[in-house]
Amino acid sequence: MIRSEYLNRVSVPPSIPATDIAGDVLEGLSRTPKSLPPKLLYDARGSALFEQITCLPEYYPTRTEAAILMAHADEICARLGRNVSVGELGAGTATKTRILLRSLLRRQFSVNYFPLDVSDAALQLAKEEVERELRAVNVHPQVGDFEDLTFLELQPRPRLVLYIGSSIGNLEHDEAIALLQNVARHLSSGDQLLLGVDLVKDSAVMHAAYNDSAGITASFNRNLLVRINRELGGHFDPDAFCHVSFWNEAASRIELHLESRRPQSVRVDALDTTLRFHQGERIHTENSYKYTIGRMKDLLRRSGFEVEHTWTDSDCWFALSLGVII
Ligand code: SAH
Ligand code: AVI
Repeated sequence: MIRSEYLNRVSVPPSIPATDIAGDVLEGLSRTPKSLPPKLLYDARGSALFEQITCLPEYYPTRTEAAILMAHADEICARLGRNVSVGELGAGTATKTRILLRSLLRRQFSVNYFPLDVSDAALQLAKEEVERELRAVNVHPQVGDFEDLTFLELQPRPRLVLYIGSSIGNLEHDEAIALLQNVARHLSSGDQLLLGVDLVKDSAVMHAAYNDSAGITASFNRNLLVRINRELGGHFDPDAFCHVSFWNEAASRIELHLESRRPQSVRVDALDTTLRFHQGERIHTENSYKYTIGRMKDLLRRSGFEVEHTWTDSDCWFALSLGVII
């Protein structure tokens, strides 16, 4: 069974209590222009669709970052403290993380691994797959939001925190700095952060990655409406919205939107509200910022980390940077 099928089958409660999504949905859809926070993309079905995205021929970030990790995992691990514990922000199914954990186990007998994610379904799979393959890794899943990083204090020192997969690209620059500063506040001198960012490249390559020919990214995007229907008694017709994604050069980001195909009113029972859309009106669902190596290093420094080393692939499409708290 492939991972995405597994994620579709697991029976889990919604990743975030409905009350949380109600507040976010009401706030985001009451704004002009309308928007929704990207973390809502990851219920169990959203996580399964993301897993499918990572295998698409057009979606280069996952395989490019995996290739960097495969080429340099031993070198990365050689730069870590002795007997590190590993925390991870937005771990998902931790597939790429296993490359690092494998390498780490050549240097230490066991690893305590603390993956944090809003998606309970993805974390269940991460725990099963990591523990099945790597018996010397103890997985301590943390279901929750980046807003609460107290789990980092559960991690024995010295600590390595992973924030890979270019997930930081979903954040605005001020949010990215605030999050990394918060990570730094929970760490101590000598603790390290491995950050993965997607780099600016040919816009056609980036455009194709978010407009795949199989339509999986479109389903991932529309799943937000499916989720609102299920968790909040929404009456969206997901097919009445088209997936729109494009490269915004001025902002250095890919944008994802859902665009109303026609004028429509949509009732959401749990919010006791009816939302109105004019034809062509968009809900902004995600940004995926693309970095330069210089901007990534600047981000790390401004957040309290000294940059130790940066690895990239031969095309310079993706970068991983190791920072340390002085
Ligand atoms: N690190 C994995 C997964 C990346 S997808 C990889 O590289 O493939 C982004 C992950 O971050 C998803 O699993 C999603 O559920 C999680 N996520 C998104 N926003 C989050 C938030 N605010 N708090 C915690 N997890 C979040
Ligand atoms: C998780 N995040 C970094 C992915 C990205 O590429 O921005 C999410 C994604 N959205 C559409 N495709 C993939």
